[in-house]
Amino acid sequence: MVIQQTQQKLKENRYGVTGKLIVVEGIDGSGKSTQIRLLEKWLRFRNIRVFLTEWNSSEAIKDITAKGKKKEKLTPTTFSLLHATDFADRYERNIFPLLRAGYIVLADRYIYTAYARDIVRGCSPLWVKKVYGYALKPDLVFYFRVPVDVAADRILSGRPRLKYYEAGMDLDLSNDIYESYRVFQSRIIEQYEKMSKNENFVIIDGTYNIEQQQQLVRSKFDEIVMNNKSDNG
Ligand SMILES: Nc1ncnc2c1ncn2[C@@H]1O[C@H](COP(=O)(O)OP(=O)(O)OP(=O)(O)O)[C@@H](O)[C@H]1O
Ligand SMILES: [Mg+2]
Repeated sequence: MVIQQTQQKLKENRYGVTGKLIVVEGIDGSGKSTQIRLLEKWLRFRNIRVFLTEWNSSEAIKDITAKGKKKEKLTPTTFSLLHATDFADRYERNIFPLLRAGYIVLADRYIYTAYARDIVRGCSPLWVKKVYGYALKPDLVFYFRVPVDVAADRILSGRPRLKYYEAGMDLDLSNDIYESYRVFQSRIIEQYEKMSKNENFVIIDGTYNIEQQQQLVRSKFDEIVMNNKSDNG
C-alpha cells in the first residue's frame, strides 16, 4: 500500500523531475542542430544549468551503429533497436538524472525521430511506442517544418552526396538515391505532421532565416518553460 502510494506520488511529480526537457525534431537538414545550439548558448549566457544531448551519440553504442550502417546491413528492426539502445544509454546516464537534478535538458531529436523513421521503415507503431514507453514526455517540442528540396539543398551544400540510410535506400523505393531520398523523407514528413497535432508540437517554419527562427524559439521557450510571455515575437 505504502509502495503504491509512493509510486503514485512519484508519477504525479514526474518521478521527482524538477528540470525541463526541450526537444527539436524535423527531417535531416531542417535546421535543428543550428537552433538548439543557439538556444544552448543563450541559456548558458543566462547562467541556466543546461545539458545538450544528440541522437545517436552514445559512446557505448554509436560505433556499432556506424559499422552496421557502413556495411548497409541493418534491417528495420536492427536499425530501430540500435537507436533505441543508444537512446536508453543516454536516457539513463544523462537525460533522466540531469532532469532530476533540475537541469534544462536539450535533446537534438528524441523519441519522435524513432517513431517517424521506424514506422516508415515498416516497424509496428505500437511496438516502437512500447520500446520507448519509459521516456518522459518533453515540456516543449519544436518541429522544424521544411520542404524536402530545401533540406536536400542544405545537406548537399555541406557534403557531396546523400547517405544510404538518410535516403532510405534500404527500402528499395528507387535505384536513384535522390528519388529515394525524396520519397522516404516525404513519408517521414507525413509522420511528423500527424504527430505535430497529437503531441502538441510547436511548429517553426524552417525556411525562415536562422535569426528569425531563433527569435521564435527563444520566445516560445520563455513562454512555455519559464511561464513568461514576451512581446518580441
Ligand atoms: N534557416 C536556415 N537557412 C539556411 N541555412 C540553414 C538554416 N538553418 C540551418 N542552415 C544550414 O543548413 C545545414 C543543416 O542545418 P543543421 O545541421 O542545423 O540541420 P539538422 O536539422 O541538424 O540536420 P541533421 O538532421 O542532418 O543533423 C547547415 O549547413 C546549416 O548551416
Ligand atoms: Mg543535426
